[in-house]
Amino acid sequence: MAKPRNNEKSGRGVLHRSLRKPMAVVGIAALGGVVALTYSMSAAPAATSPTTAGSASGPAAANAKDAGGTQASLKANERLLKEGKRTFRYATFGDEKFWGGLLDLEKAIEGEANGGVGPGVSPATALSVGLKVDVEALPKEVRDAIAAGDVDLDDPATTLALLKLNSVVGVTGFFNDKGDLATVGIQCALCHSTVDDSFAPGIGKRLDGWANRDLNVGAIVSLAPNLQPIADLLHTDVATVKKVLASWGPGRYDAALLLDGKAFRPDGKTSSVLLPPAFGLQGVNNHTSGGWGSVTYWNAFVANLQMHGQGTFYDPRLDNAEQFPIAAENNFGHITSKVDKITPKLPGLAAYQLAIAAPPAPKGSFDKGAAARGKKLFMGPAECSTCHVPPTFTEPGFNMHKGEEIGIDNFQADRSPTHMYRTSPLAGLWTHQKGGFYHDGRFKDLSEVVTHYDKTFSLGLSEAQKKDLVQYLLSL
Ligand code: HEC
Ligand code: HEC
Repeated sequence: MAKPRNNEKSGRGVLHRSLRKPMAVVGIAALGGVVALTYSMSAAPAATSPTTAGSASGPAAANAKDAGGTQASLKANERLLKEGKRTFRYATFGDEKFWGGLLDLEKAIEGEANGGVGPGVSPATALSVGLKVDVEALPKEVRDAIAAGDVDLDDPATTLALLKLNSVVGVTGFFNDKGDLATVGIQCALCHSTVDDSFAPGIGKRLDGWANRDLNVGAIVSLAPNLQPIADLLHTDVATVKKVLASWGPGRYDAALLLDGKAFRPDGKTSSVLLPPAFGLQGVNNHTSGGWGSVTYWNAFVANLQMHGQGTFYDPRLDNAEQFPIAAENNFGHITSKVDKITPKLPGLAAYQLAIAAPPAPKGSFDKGAAARGKKLFMGPAECSTCHVPPTFTEPGFNMHKGEEIGIDNFQADRSPTHMYRTSPLAGLWTHQKGGFYHDGRFKDLSEVVTHYDKTFSLGLSEAQKKDLVQYLLSL
């Protein structure tokens, strides 16, 4: 019985393929291989932009079929993009061995009533520390029940149910055969995604690449019952670790803490930085505010050293015991794992991230006339475009500067091997106004940024000109 059915199936497959072929030929004839190629390449970011995220079968896919000799390679790229999206959203790289296995974070989520410790993490608590829920992962019955007020958002058991549905953005629960939460892991999407709040505040469709400026990473890590491993790394006690985590606040994280052990700046303020967006990075040379390297470099760095996944990582710059005492002591620049769950994912992850375009500013969110005047200033007398060169809004080439060049201190720059700051790409600024601007959010809004430049570069801008510049920045 089974055999004929299989034959029939493969027969249909052949029929399908032969039906599709002529269409592809027509496409090539009409568009020409080169046109089809460029179109599908430039369409790729749109297909994965936040509004259409999820459809890798849009124009890019259609045109991939038209691309003649490069068809196979475009198909491969499409697969890579899809895989990268999955990685960005769902891959833990084996880091559940750290977050659950070592720090016991799952016990704090469960709470005593569900076999863990303490009060547990209810959905209300989770939302209050900035975690987001992917509404598309919720079955209709669950959505209806939430809308009707029939779901107890104060019960940690509800959080466990949401984790079982894989609906908590950036956090994966691993359940055992008995249905108990065995461990938890985290993903890139935790810090670099948010949702559009279309269902309720904190519950909506995923916006990949957007900085989650509500997320209180410090408060979340602080919930972990066992912070001793972090205290040991830092040669301090758990109380101090908790003090440091509490000093970060929402939308912030300190990626250099476990390298140099510096928790506070000389002025006593937190040494954490803002969670940046991970979109609009195509064509940008150095990534991260300290220009640690390319997207590919940084993904390997983050997955191994920050998320504590299982992989391979090499960076002898971290052997510098003076700059990176913690990293040098622990050989963080020379990581190997028995099973590498990170490296095979890097190509797709890089492809996907570079494909996430910065979302355009919504109509009506800025004053068009003012923005047009602001653009003239940006490109001319205000000298902004000498560094922020459109369309990437960073320098083509070596996009790094000393603090003095932009009128700020070098504390954070000196925590990077470059000792410099990277010229920030500016597209999509409107999406991350919460928490302020510059790497550490030192300027509370764009108006403060412009005023800072006006003083630093003695631009002599009038108040009206400053406002125009701000409107232009909001339009990017
Ligand atoms: C715990 C929060 C957190 C997680 C999880 C995280 N990141 Fe980040 N990411 C940050 C912070 C903070 C920075 C800024 C570092 C800096 O500028 O010094 C950053 C920087 C970046 C940048 C540079 C952006 C730019 O402006 O150039 C990229 C790209 C990035 N992360 C991608 C990823 C990917 C991919 C993953 C998963 C492998 C990931 N991140 C996981 C917090 C996080
Ligand atoms: C000498 C090069 C240079 C010039 C000129 C310059 N910038 Fe910048 N800009 C930078 C660097 C470097 C950063 C990153 C600073 C940081 O993160 O601490 C930055 C950051 C910014 C940010 C913050 C982005 C964010 O995500 O927080 C804005 C906004 C900005 N610049 C706007 C402007 C405007 C407007 C002008 C013109 C008045 C200008 N810049 C001129 C180099 C420059």
